[in-house]
Amino acid sequence: MKRKALSTFSTFSTLLFAASIASAQAAAPQAEPVQPIAPAKIQYPDRVELGKKLWFDPRLSRSGFISCNSCHNLSMGGSDNLKTSIGDKWKQGGINSPTVLNSSLNFVQFWDGRAKDLQEQAHGPIANPIEMAFTHDLAVDTLQSIPEYVAEFRKVFKSDKLTMAEITLAIAAFEETLVTPNARFDKWLKGNKKAIDAQELRGYQLFKSSGCVACHSGPNLGGNSFQKMGIVAPYKTANPSEGRAGVTGKDVDRFNFKVPTLRNVALTYPYFHDGEAATLTEAVDVMGRLQLGRKFTSEENADIVAFLKTLTGDQPKLMLPILPPSNDSTPRPKPFE
Ligand code: HEC
Ligand code: HEC
Repeated sequence: MKRKALSTFSTFSTLLFAASIASAQAAAPQAEPVQPIAPAKIQYPDRVELGKKLWFDPRLSRSGFISCNSCHNLSMGGSDNLKTSIGDKWKQGGINSPTVLNSSLNFVQFWDGRAKDLQEQAHGPIANPIEMAFTHDLAVDTLQSIPEYVAEFRKVFKSDKLTMAEITLAIAAFEETLVTPNARFDKWLKGNKKAIDAQELRGYQLFKSSGCVACHSGPNLGGNSFQKMGIVAPYKTANPSEGRAGVTGKDVDRFNFKVPTLRNVALTYPYFHDGEAATLTEAVDVMGRLQLGRKFTSEENADIVAFLKTLTGDQPKLMLPILPPSNDSTPRPKPFE
């Protein structure tokens, strides 16, 4: 008798629970592992404008030739489309340049997560000998020698001293505007069922059911965890990058990388930290085999690739900034010495 009462009770509560789930789903029709991204909310427009100038200014490099945009070309999905980047004196970079589009949505920056946010990240490339090869002091001196910059920094930060902290804050403010809303897939998530076609939808379903979403989820389809590259079978590469272990020194973190975003992935070839996968077809095949132990048929692969191509959003539209000219006292570029 008691047991019956209990089970009646639990059946009832299960029903209630199911009903509450159903109503929650009705309220949020897109209870999906991927969420649409919102347009940028611009908090400090004058910081953004200054940051945009710094983003395009090659005088932050020793050569006077390399800007942030050299390796994160906003005309090409915020990447350089090279296996690894070319830096000062044509030196070969050690790792593939990730896109800056939507990088504000990543939980940490860099493949190994060594910078906690965009401002901290922006300290890196200016002084990196195989990127811009400058020093922070020289970067500050250079900008300080240009009266228009001095005036603009004063206006934006209301302080007389131009600092590296201000430079990186302005760059980060600009980067935060580099989000790409309105991808066809986002329109579908928001309820426009015609925004993607049958093949693209099959691709998304397979992306979910085969387990890609275990790592590529959230608004950025990635960028929210470190994961091992080569779970089911090892990934073979000549690239010496260790991933997260390079930061923590722990063996368990070897070959763990920040999961890259799949937003705009059709534009950001080649793929993986070593840039060794030239095409999406190849990248999807490697992911299936090495991360999930699954060999996709060519139809399945094509479906997933079709889905991935729906993730290209509105690219940032910008007016090229006109940079203030150097002054007589501005340190001269050193492209060849
Ligand atoms: C010479 C090429 C080069 C230049 C110049 C360069 N970067 Fe990068 N950038 C890279 C590479 C390569 C990485 C990945 C490095 C790593 O993860 O270890 C990267 C990583 C990043 C990331 C992290 C993205 C992510 O998803 O983790 C951001 C943000 C970024 N760069 C912004 C900038 C800014 C701002 C500048 C200018 C101050 C700049 N970059 C200049 C090549 C470059
Ligand atoms: C266990 C976690 C995990 C799973 C599951 C997973 N991925 Fe990945 N994915 C990663 C990591 C980590 C990387 C970066 C690997 C590297 O660069 O060495 C990556 C990289 C990629 C890239 C290249 C992106 C770029 O910009 O370089 C694509 C495309 C991709 N994954 C698609 C997929 C697809 C499709 C699936 C399902 C078939 C999938 N992934 C399953 C963790 C995962």
